[in-house]
Amino acid sequence: MDDLVMIGPMQPSVMASLEEKFEIHRYWKAKNKAEFLTKNPVTRFLATNGHDGCSAEIMDALPNLEIISCYGVGTDAIDLQAAKDRGIRVTNTPEVLSDAVAELALGMMLGLCRRIVDADQFIRDGKWTSGGYPLTGELTGSTIGILGLGRIGKEIARRAQAFKMQVVYHGRTEQRFEPFPFYANLEDMARDVDWLVAVVPGGASTTKLVDRNVLKALGPKGAVVNLGRGSLIDEAAMIELLKSGELGGAALDVFEEEPKMSEELWSLPNVVLSPHQGSATEKTRWAMGDLVVRNLLAHQNGMPTITPVV
Ligand code: NAP
Ligand code: 8YV
Repeated sequence: MDDLVMIGPMQPSVMASLEEKFEIHRYWKAKNKAEFLTKNPVTRFLATNGHDGCSAEIMDALPNLEIISCYGVGTDAIDLQAAKDRGIRVTNTPEVLSDAVAELALGMMLGLCRRIVDADQFIRDGKWTSGGYPLTGELTGSTIGILGLGRIGKEIARRAQAFKMQVVYHGRTEQRFEPFPFYANLEDMARDVDWLVAVVPGGASTTKLVDRNVLKALGPKGAVVNLGRGSLIDEAAMIELLKSGELGGAALDVFEEEPKMSEELWSLPNVVLSPHQGSATEKTRWAMGDLVVRNLLAHQNGMPTITPVV
């Protein structure tokens, strides 16, 4: 059986199918990581997740490495240049998670504007008998600006249209065959929308793309929604503006240093928080795991990988 180094765990069904095909070495369980790597230098196969990724140092410690199969679409935690330089293939799990992530985006937006979590607490606190819950906003008729009209962005757009919202977008390039108005400038888009939904990849080119100026342009009636990566938003500026009322609200599935975050966020009423669970459904995680396995097996059998990144 071939050896497989796994950087982090995957759900039991994926672990079970990997165990059928590979001798698994669990990096996350090793107390001494350096020693673990020196013990497994012959491995050709590695599986990781979007959070833990794979550094150039790990690649160097595994000189026979041929493929890194990532359990996630975002590969910003993998040193792709280092992989390319070393001739290591990298695969990810695009498409199969787009519906689940888009669904959560709309869910969090509804949660924020219809105040679903707070209204639930209102009933549990026994307050309803003393009067109705204050009136809320609604999605219908509002404008959503999507930062990153990619696979997930397009699924969000489709669902936003079903909620009778106007859709506009910003990205590096205009997509002429898409029916939505394009903004070449993110700050201009933020000024014109009610919702700014960030779903671009992480990495150097997008770090703090949603900066103080963009958040201020969104304004007291606007809300920022982040399902991309925590690094996309200037989190400190966002918290400051949420506290001062210069930014209307935030719905966040990802954070700069997750699972850590500023506890100030916990006490803000105009914020909805989610523990990075965009793709975290039984069905979607199964499909992602299946792709992780099939990519490894394709490589093992000398075939082209199914969803190559590098
Ligand atoms: P995708 O299809 O590659 O779409 C990414 C979009 O971002 C593209 O439209 C791209 O358009 C745009 N973009 C890339 N770099 C940009 C930049 N520097 N400035 C502006 N726009 C930029 O990827 P996807 O499958 O939709 O996934 C997007 C990201 O979502 C992932 O990389 C990951 O970080 C995140 N994600 C999060 C979860 C979660 O659980 N919260 C789950 C899955 C994915 P242009 O190239 O035209 O600019
Ligand atoms: C995963 C994600 O939760 O696909 C991504 O980019 O952020 C999520 O689907 C993450 O990769 C951990 O596996």
